[in-house]
Amino acid sequence: MPKAPAQKRKRVAATSESEIQAAIRQHDFLAPVFAQYPIEVASAQGVWLTSSRGERVLDLYGGHAVAGLGYGHPAWTAALARQAEACQFQSNAVAMRIRAQAARRLVRFSRLPFASAFLVNSGAEANENALKVALRMTGRAHVAAIEGGFHGRTAAAGAVTWGAREKWYGFPRTPFDVSFIPRGDRAAIDAQVTRDTAAVIVEPVQGLAGAVELGASFLASLRARCDEVGALLIFDEVQCGVGRTGEPFAANLYGVRPDMLTTAKALGNGFPCAALLFSPLVAASLKPEFLGTTFGGGPLACAAIAAVIAAIKTERLLERVRRIGAYIRQTCIAGPVVAHQGAGLLVGLRTTRPAREIQAELLECCILTGTANDPHILRLLPAFILEEQHVDMLRDALRDLPP
Ligand SMILES: Cc1ncc(COP(=O)(O)O)c(C=O)c1O
Repeated sequence: MPKAPAQKRKRVAATSESEIQAAIRQHDFLAPVFAQYPIEVASAQGVWLTSSRGERVLDLYGGHAVAGLGYGHPAWTAALARQAEACQFQSNAVAMRIRAQAARRLVRFSRLPFASAFLVNSGAEANENALKVALRMTGRAHVAAIEGGFHGRTAAAGAVTWGAREKWYGFPRTPFDVSFIPRGDRAAIDAQVTRDTAAVIVEPVQGLAGAVELGASFLASLRARCDEVGALLIFDEVQCGVGRTGEPFAANLYGVRPDMLTTAKALGNGFPCAALLFSPLVAASLKPEFLGTTFGGGPLACAAIAAVIAAIKTERLLERVRRIGAYIRQTCIAGPVVAHQGAGLLVGLRTTRPAREIQAELLECCILTGTANDPHILRLLPAFILEEQHVDMLRDALRDLPP
């Protein structure tokens, strides 16, 4: 696979004082990150946002798949408050019961034969570490990823993200060799996953691509080929994990066991955290000092993780995700929406017109939705506590839009 060309040297033009002031005014002292929704959120409760102008907006976007329990969840809020009072921070060098409890709950919740969890801060960091472990464990220098996949914006995670090099990958070259397998292409799996391959990294349901299921048989083929050549299979469930598909993880849904699984987003319900789960074989290869983080596994993050998993169980949210996910698919083929894809509450609604237009029209009706890299997919990533009545609001709004 060709490496990204070394970046051409550019001269940085001197910035004038007036340009600096204009940039500060435009971005309010924040560096520009994502394109901005035309709404400023002041507060939120359940699945409802309240804007700074006082409008109530139905949130079907969930802070980009993060607010799985919705906003102001009482048990989650109380768990964080309790932990903040008890002790807000100790690093991984100091044992804490809440950290052990979060790891135990997460591994058991997965219903997969994982042996341990490494608690980190973000999806990209979890993937960065998963790739490092695979490269080190196998002593190989090639990673295969899937076309359309997104894995984060750091050096290794960005290297395995489809299209990153053309769009935003800022590093002069990738830290290892990378190739991309077209979705569903079995022959490409055999050709690209070889005895030089350390790992295959895959989102079982691709999120940013537009809620694209890769399917049980494609995932099983990846598993089989990894076993044949001694490569490790990494499931990136940063977006599709922690109940979003109606199962603990998509690995459960499709019956395929990865060697490592990364997850984040809904894991903390908004408290920044992520995790990397290890199979017994991978866990056995890890020595102290190989992995590390200051903030990862901090007690507040662990209180959030433990509370999220407890709430998913006690409120039977997996069942709810399956039921409401099915209800959306039954009812929301309306107006400009002609088909659906994805799993559970990671929903892609296929639109006749550009999804951005429909997203803007829905926001005028006080419904917040997401888009995707596929310009004709409107993406829904709502809280797991969503109810039928909220779906009815979306259906009614869609029916009133021009087809
Ligand atoms: C599938 C997937 N992997 C990794 C990431 C990166 O996660 P983070 O933004 O927490 O670094 C994302 C973020 O959208 C994602 O959707």
